[in-house]
Amino acid sequence: MGKDTITITDNRTGRQTELPVRESTLGPDAVDIGLFLKEAGYFMYDPGFLSTASCQSALTYLDGAEGQLFYRGYPIEQLAEQSNFTEVAHLMLYGDLPTATQLTKFNNIITHHSMINEALKGFFHGFYHDAHPMAIMVGVVGSLSAFYHDSTDISDPRHREIAAHRMIAKMPSIAAASYKHSIGEPQVYPDNSLSYTGNLLNMMFSVPCEKYYVDPIAEKALDLIFILHVDHEQNASTSTVRLAGSSGANPFACMASGIAALWGPAHGGANEAVLSMLDEIGDVSNIDKYLAKAKDKNDPFRLMGFGHRVYKNYDPRARIIREMCHQVLAKLGKDDDPMFELALRLEEIALADEYFIQRKLYPNVDFYSGLIYRALGIPANMFTVMFAIARTVGWVAQWMEMISDEEQRIGRPRQLYVGPTQRDYVPIDQR
Ligand code: CMC
Repeated sequence: MGKDTITITDNRTGRQTELPVRESTLGPDAVDIGLFLKEAGYFMYDPGFLSTASCQSALTYLDGAEGQLFYRGYPIEQLAEQSNFTEVAHLMLYGDLPTATQLTKFNNIITHHSMINEALKGFFHGFYHDAHPMAIMVGVVGSLSAFYHDSTDISDPRHREIAAHRMIAKMPSIAAASYKHSIGEPQVYPDNSLSYTGNLLNMMFSVPCEKYYVDPIAEKALDLIFILHVDHEQNASTSTVRLAGSSGANPFACMASGIAALWGPAHGGANEAVLSMLDEIGDVSNIDKYLAKAKDKNDPFRLMGFGHRVYKNYDPRARIIREMCHQVLAKLGKDDDPMFELALRLEEIALADEYFIQRKLYPNVDFYSGLIYRALGIPANMFTVMFAIARTVGWVAQWMEMISDEEQRIGRPRQLYVGPTQRDYVPIDQR
């Protein structure tokens, strides 16, 4: 028996199957089960991928028990403290922190790809004014493939790179245009003199008739939130992007599929859901009632912004963002916002509750991000869009990594079939 193998014994037949073990650089090694069906005659059953590594990746590492998150080996705390969003984007795409010259060049490229095709602007008008901005995002981002034929040959590394730049650069412009459409204001063109988040704020909040000044507190807060949301290993939306991309679909279509998956309230939609929940709770005096609902298995209510598939310890991003939430609200003079007080009280009570302690349910990053967005004047239906802008970096980095992985094949899970066994067709007049 090889040292780097494990042996599985089939207790039904006594047959033994030896499987190779692939070594990780951090975290659990992985048993390679690619030949298990052929050798042992079984599928592996793992709904929700609780124990399944769907790919190899050198991008993000997270340890749920320790509450650690690294991008390309760098702890999230260090990046949040010392880096900025576009530097992190460079790190994710190219593997290393950029030199000053490389960063200037990268910023310049991203800045100069931020305009969207004038014809694309017409798409927004096809949506009814009360369309959810995420619905507009799914449609418009998917339609980019119709505009940029020159960057959809996925076998060409340069095409892939240009597509990556375009997506990172255009996402804020599309997001802001979605918002402007929903409030009936004219779209604002990007301003190349502004930072990535400054430009987004300008496109969202400026109007042609008056001068808009980007608030440096808002610009910095958004930059930090974006760093925290860049990537998170093989989460639902990233896995969706990879699965779509594995068939050779063009990158813009893959991003649209990621946006669709992110929208769900169990994933990126949670930040919007947290605010709706706080609205519904309404007052500190109702917290006990809602905690009881969250614990009741017959009640679908869940405490939004609590719990995580992987973190069974405090989400390190939540720790950073919680601190920032206090600072931003104080700096903006919004720390007496009753919703913030309600959120903090809810957090305190839930963290001391046996149900939440036993299940290791801690506040996650989305519990606080919505509160900050609200303080910055960003409407609730744009919260998940904000998440999508930041996560685009992770999606494109994961997509690029996947395409250049020599082991990459079309994603094609199997199933445990539990339907009827073979039966014969009965003509309709005999049923
Ligand atoms: N409120 C009440 N109970 C909960 C919650 C919650 N938010 N989350 C989990 N539980 C309970 C769950 O009912 C189960 O209890 P039991 O063992 O008695 O059956 C136990 O905790 C384990 O939960 P699970 O559903 O098996 O965990 P999961 O890994 O499948 O789900 C989750 C993870 C994030 C979908 C879930 O915790 C949840 O729905 N949270 C609220 C939504 C949310 O905040 N999502 C954002 C996640 S962070 C950002 C991102 O990654 O997009």
